[in-house]
Amino acid sequence: MRIILFGPPGSGKGTQAERLRRDWDLPRVSTGDMLRDAVRRETSTGRKAKGYMERGELVPDDVMTRVVEERLSLEDCADGFVLDGFPRTVAQSEALDAFLRGKDLAVDAVMSLLVDEEEVVRRMAGRGREDDSEEVIRNRLKVYWRQTEPLIQIYKDRGKLLEIDGRAPVEEVTRRIRTAVAAFVPEDPPGKRAGMSRARIE
Ligand code: AP5
Repeated sequence: MRIILFGPPGSGKGTQAERLRRDWDLPRVSTGDMLRDAVRRETSTGRKAKGYMERGELVPDDVMTRVVEERLSLEDCADGFVLDGFPRTVAQSEALDAFLRGKDLAVDAVMSLLVDEEEVVRRMAGRGREDDSEEVIRNRLKVYWRQTEPLIQIYKDRGKLLEIDGRAPVEEVTRRIRTAVAAFVPEDPPGKRAGMSRARIE
């Protein structure tokens, strides 16, 4: 199963992607986590990404597309994955389509988590991540509405979009996602598979 988790900063993508990883043993491909790891290790991708992340802007599409294609090419993603934080632009979504089409594959479902802006700011206030100052959060939200939200219509038009109210408690959001996926993709969740949940990028 190939799932995209979609939603504004702080909507709970990472939290829910981690639960899908754990419950269904799907590798979680979180571009934010991969980039933060690259920044920590001062790799060439990390050096390119750092300034964009600190400002709450998107890292350029060519960098992101390469990072994600390398990650999805690893063996543990062969039978499915949960994408958390990618695609975030029309160009990224087209690159993902082309990559999957080249393997005769496609995205099965796109889960869009809905939350309002004040809830996002409230949730992230106490988290302490470097890009969680109120000014940067507001910019990340602006970037989301301008560059990422238009993708919702694209996936809606394809009949792939599932909208989930993300304002409920974590457990309840997980339950809604599971119910939605089960109804939408009428197959058993993947069984236990060995695999990495995260890979390093250079
Ligand atoms: P990324 O790490 O993806 O950040 P984000 O999209 O801003 O999302 P967050 O991680 O802040 O929030 P989330 O939706 O995952 O929510 P979470 O579960 O953590 O990206 C960071 C940066 O990397 C970007 O700004 C950009 O620069 C760059 N980047 C990444 N991908 C890129 C791409 N594809 N292209 C270009 N640049 C890219 O939850 C947030 C908080 O809320 C947590 O404290 C959590 O405990 C809490 N919470 C979660 N669910 C609930 C709930 N239901 N109720 C109450 N609290 C909840």
